Amino acid sequence: MAIAEPRKPEASNVLAASVKMTGVNKHFGSGLKRVDVLRDINLEIQAGEVLVLLGPSGCGKSTLLRLIAGLDSPSEGLVTVDHEQVTGVDERCGFVFQDPRLLPWLNLQDNVAIGARSKRNQQEILELLATVGLGGFEKHLPRQVSGGMAQRAALARGLAGHPGVLLLDEPFAALDALTRLRMQDLLLDVTRASGATVVLVTHDIDEALHLADRIVVLADRGRGIDEIVKVNHPRPRDRSHPGLAPLRTELLSKFGIHP
Ligand SMILES: Nc1ncnc2c1ncn2[C@@H]1O[C@H](COP(=O)(O)OP(=O)(O)OP(=O)(O)O)[C@@H](O)[C@H]1O
Ligand SMILES: [Mg+2]
Repeated sequence: MAIAEPRKPEASNVLAASVKMTGVNKHFGSGLKRVDVLRDINLEIQAGEVLVLLGPSGCGKSTLLRLIAGLDSPSEGLVTVDHEQVTGVDERCGFVFQDPRLLPWLNLQDNVAIGARSKRNQQEILELLATVGLGGFEKHLPRQVSGGMAQRAALARGLAGHPGVLLLDEPFAALDALTRLRMQDLLLDVTRASGATVVLVTHDIDEALHLADRIVVLADRGRGIDEIVKVNHPRPRDRSHPGLAPLRTELLSKFGIHP
């Protein structure tokens, strides 16, 4: 069976949420074993914005996402979503991981339904699956679909709870290059339609330039934000637009690569 074309998503009435981090520090362990990971993070993410986090391995990107999701708490400082303090995991944030993390004994429809938390109309789940191009695969088990399709299901699961913020931690890293490009466009389509703010971690500078309204570059572990780069290009973006070249060069040189 060929993979279905994603259906044009319907606009939803979910309101994007804003995120604010104020004076956030995060360390793990104590005494001689203390590791400082994030330092003095002050960041305001506008409702509806696509914010991309870039930075060297181990600098704290996943940790920062986990703090917004309420999967972990800051050592100092405050994290709010829509001006309300994050005190634990709640329905305001959806999460998509690097690997799909689908339950192998549940079909795709039931896996996506898990993201809905409260019981959601099965028709809505089917529509969400169609939106990510999985119409006709609802009853397939995860092992019966490709890696890209499983990751589409994970994206649908992340959106199933109508989150105001969708957090994605290197969601396309395990996919082949072409599937990855298609998933980037799909992500923009479905999150624009769902009305979610997007915070995405990637190591891929071109992915960041294609998706982001702003790119937050984190410095090495324990040093906090290095720079915030605004990407002022209208969408849909042409990946080879010459206007993106200076930003690409600037970001590459930050990572010690001189084109
Ligand atoms: N629960 C934990 N206990 C102790 N140390 C931790 C914990 N979680 C993360 N760390 C440490 O915090 C640092 C940052 O980890 P994090 O996973 O946020 O980095 P990252 O920027 O996402 O890296 P990568 O690009 O490799 O995914 C690492 O040194 C890691 O070992
Ligand atoms: Mg990480």
